[in-house]
Amino acid sequence: MNIAVFCSGNGTNLQAIINAIKKGKLAADLALVVSDNSQAYALKRARRAKIKTVFIDPAQFRVKSDFEAKLTEYLMAERISLIVLAGFMRILSSEFVMKFRNKIINIHPALLPSFKGSHGIKDAFDYGVKVTGVTVHFVDEKMDHGPIILQQALKIEEGQTLEALEAKIHKIEHKLYPEAIRLFTEGKLEINGRKVKILS
Ligand code: GAR
Repeated sequence: MNIAVFCSGNGTNLQAIINAIKKGKLAADLALVVSDNSQAYALKRARRAKIKTVFIDPAQFRVKSDFEAKLTEYLMAERISLIVLAGFMRILSSEFVMKFRNKIINIHPALLPSFKGSHGIKDAFDYGVKVTGVTVHFVDEKMDHGPIILQQALKIEEGQTLEALEAKIHKIEHKLYPEAIRLFTEGKLEINGRKVKILS
């Protein structure tokens, strides 16, 4: 199955996916890495792994639908069956989401529906929760909202620093995301409304 990963920044989750494929833990063809940021370190990681990359500059398009039309062209050309958002800091339109319904997944560094948005780890830490975690979910029209595929919880220890918490969250992400992609590519996810059943 051909998959595409969309990134805007560092790309550590992309790296975890690349590594899982290399180790044979994930049978997927990572056919395309897309970024909306030419400086994203994720692009370097992809090039190093000899994966096709494309930078699509949002500033070059008058409206979002033109940007997404370009994006769709690339996805169609590579016959992409799954879009993996990995730190892609751009909200996709409902038209785009509808076109790829149940074929876009996202990772969020908190236990949804808590602490949506782009600072999930810090927001949970500042709020003083005792438990946080990681969520992988299907993408729907609302931000950080679609049906949940996998979640893993993590206790925040007494006196733990934000930096230490971030490191632990990322470690969980790097295991959970390849696992969720594996379940998808093996056809083991059955969506029923908000519920995602994991078939054995
Ligand atoms: C990850 O922690 C991911 O969960 C988060 O962006 C980071 C990207 O890191 N995504 C969100 O907050 C989405 N709401 P990476 O570029 O090193 O993979």
